[in-house]
Amino acid sequence: MGISYNEVTRVFHLQAGNTSYVMQVYKDGYLSHLYWGRKIKKVNVQELLAGIARGSFSTNSDANDIVLTLDTLPQEYPAYGNTDFRTPAYSVQLENGTTITDLRYKSHRIIKGKPALKTLPATYVESDAEAETLEIVLTDSLLGLKAVLSYTAYNNYDVITRNVRFINEGNTNLKLLRALSMSVDFNNKDYDFVHLYGSWQKERSIERRPLLNGNQSIESRKGASGHQHNPFIALLSKNATEDQGEVYGFSLVYSGNFLAQAEVDQDETTRVSIGINPFDFSWLLKQGESFQTPEAVMVYSSNGLGDMSRTYHKLYRTRLCRGEFRDKTRPVLVNNWEATYFDFNAEKIENIAKVGKELGIELFVLDDGWFGKRDNDDCSLGDWVVNTKKLPKGLDNLANRINELGLQFGLWFEPEMVSPNSDLYRAHPDWCLHVPNRTPSESRNQLILDLSREDVCTYIIKAVSNVLSSANISYVKWDMNRNMTEIGSECLPVERQKETAHRYMLGLYRIMDEITSSFPNILFESCSGGGGRFDPGMLFYMPQTWTSDNTDAVDRLKIQYGTSIVYPISTMGSHVSAVPNHQVHRNTSLKMRGDVAMSGNFGYELDLTKFSDEEKGEVKVQVAQYKELREIIQFGEMYRLLNPFEGNETAWMFVTEDKTQAVVAYFRVLALANAPIRRIKLKGLDPNKEYSVFGKDDTYGGDELMYVGLTITDLEGDYQSIIWILKSK
Ligand code: DGJ
Repeated sequence: MGISYNEVTRVFHLQAGNTSYVMQVYKDGYLSHLYWGRKIKKVNVQELLAGIARGSFSTNSDANDIVLTLDTLPQEYPAYGNTDFRTPAYSVQLENGTTITDLRYKSHRIIKGKPALKTLPATYVESDAEAETLEIVLTDSLLGLKAVLSYTAYNNYDVITRNVRFINEGNTNLKLLRALSMSVDFNNKDYDFVHLYGSWQKERSIERRPLLNGNQSIESRKGASGHQHNPFIALLSKNATEDQGEVYGFSLVYSGNFLAQAEVDQDETTRVSIGINPFDFSWLLKQGESFQTPEAVMVYSSNGLGDMSRTYHKLYRTRLCRGEFRDKTRPVLVNNWEATYFDFNAEKIENIAKVGKELGIELFVLDDGWFGKRDNDDCSLGDWVVNTKKLPKGLDNLANRINELGLQFGLWFEPEMVSPNSDLYRAHPDWCLHVPNRTPSESRNQLILDLSREDVCTYIIKAVSNVLSSANISYVKWDMNRNMTEIGSECLPVERQKETAHRYMLGLYRIMDEITSSFPNILFESCSGGGGRFDPGMLFYMPQTWTSDNTDAVDRLKIQYGTSIVYPISTMGSHVSAVPNHQVHRNTSLKMRGDVAMSGNFGYELDLTKFSDEEKGEVKVQVAQYKELREIIQFGEMYRLLNPFEGNETAWMFVTEDKTQAVVAYFRVLALANAPIRRIKLKGLDPNKEYSVFGKDDTYGGDELMYVGLTITDLEGDYQSIIWILKSK
């Protein structure tokens, strides 16, 4: 286990969980990639490099060595311009305008544990015994350019994390044009490319397609990870399914513009890379300066997509999320957004909270509209002072009254934004992202504050902290409702303008770090028009995210299923909303809405005062049931059973690590005449344990539940759902 180096063969062998990752310092100091996959004990280098020599049009960098064209050598961090024609991992511009660099192995060190990344979010260890880290130093002696490639192998996870630090140790200025977090070469193209795509209210649909010759990529140019693509891709062997076959996952711990791609070259090898999007990016490295890339988290599984997801879930839940709430069950909440939108006052809020208390709800969240003069979305962002027209006695008073009812109080913010119609904008029109002589485009009547500026970040930290200290606030929803345009900063020199978007992210991370550390008792949930910034970077600061602005139970099946490809259940906000649903105008049963929302951090987002007595009775039961089950749901291992992208049914289940308890959720969207007998085979149970199934008289063996399955009966009509609760005897 861990990381070893063979002085003779110059081979690095990283073992992480059941995985091996092998590299070699090849002749002339190029760092070649040899193997990544199921754990092996011994490495035969000749075998792994056999066949890479070919009489092609590729140029040999060593005239005496037909093998050594970088165009066919599998590599770890390739350049462009010196015989490799494939996609480079990095690119650096010299003062003379040229871009040829030549990074070769200089030294390495292996250390226990995992160093934190300065200024960027990353996975971590709690003790040095959990992982080992290899730092390989590559240098270009002509330029004085140094790149430190960092690899961490976790002992108990099939995970390798990577990042790169560039340092200019020369005596000229250098400009990074491209600085991806990782690159890896596969020796064939026999894989499918999987990624998560979507749009606002339709986040993280799954697409699987064969790898094709040429480049296939997903990216964000929006200044946020975005609704459209998630910073994640996977390669799946052709036969891979949910439960078997090889899967390679790549996830980027970053919330801004990213690029993830797989290039199949002329020899049908595949190069995969992920990192900050080089589009509209550059970074000036003056003498002595350094640049840190975000972290890429690479997961290998030989047991299908489900196993890959469970690895990401556990790692991200326990070694990316932090703080007091990481291991705490999350409260059942009611949020007033879909209940009132901007139209509320203290009395209305208190009335909703009162019913909430009756129903067993634990937290009331006051959404948008409590500050400045905000009665709709055209003003006041940036003016984080209470709207006394709506809340004449102030926030503190409202929070106390909610607390007296027996609920915690939570509050919405959108700290990164400014409304042109706000006191903040009138005082500091230069504080938004903009470029000279052009009017910045508005979106939802708002502009984005320039978080690449220290003074703006300091203002946000102070303004938000003032509110958080002014009342008893237990939860914050941190929203962000537009993407970046006219990206430029008044404070940066000409040659650094293309650094603005990344500097914004560094500013945001600093702000979130300071605020969340100053208020460790507050549970933070991030949001961006729903799930427009649902990414690992945000989870480092805020352990949960509002999954989507689409709260329709049927659409949520796909959204939550797709999100679960990478993200743990404890990170997904999921609420019951009113019918007809406000986004798609569908009527679904309260039961199904409850069952779908229970497969996440559960809550309600509707006017509870409008419930009939009968509905209140049903909700009381839902809330009580969720409280009983939430530990299993939020922290159990998730197994996906039926895929909503493939048909009329969806099912998933959550199993405690010791396999003594499980919750199974089944959903059928449309009714079927003469429906065939449906039996659903469970997963992840102990075949030798005997389980009781709540509501059934018999007990069942774990083997029976997994190999024979449970029969689905008694469903009538559309939008049906069943929850089974299993306990071992
Ligand atoms: C977008 C969020 O996703 C919604 O939940 C809500 O908070 C609105 N913003 C408020 O403006």
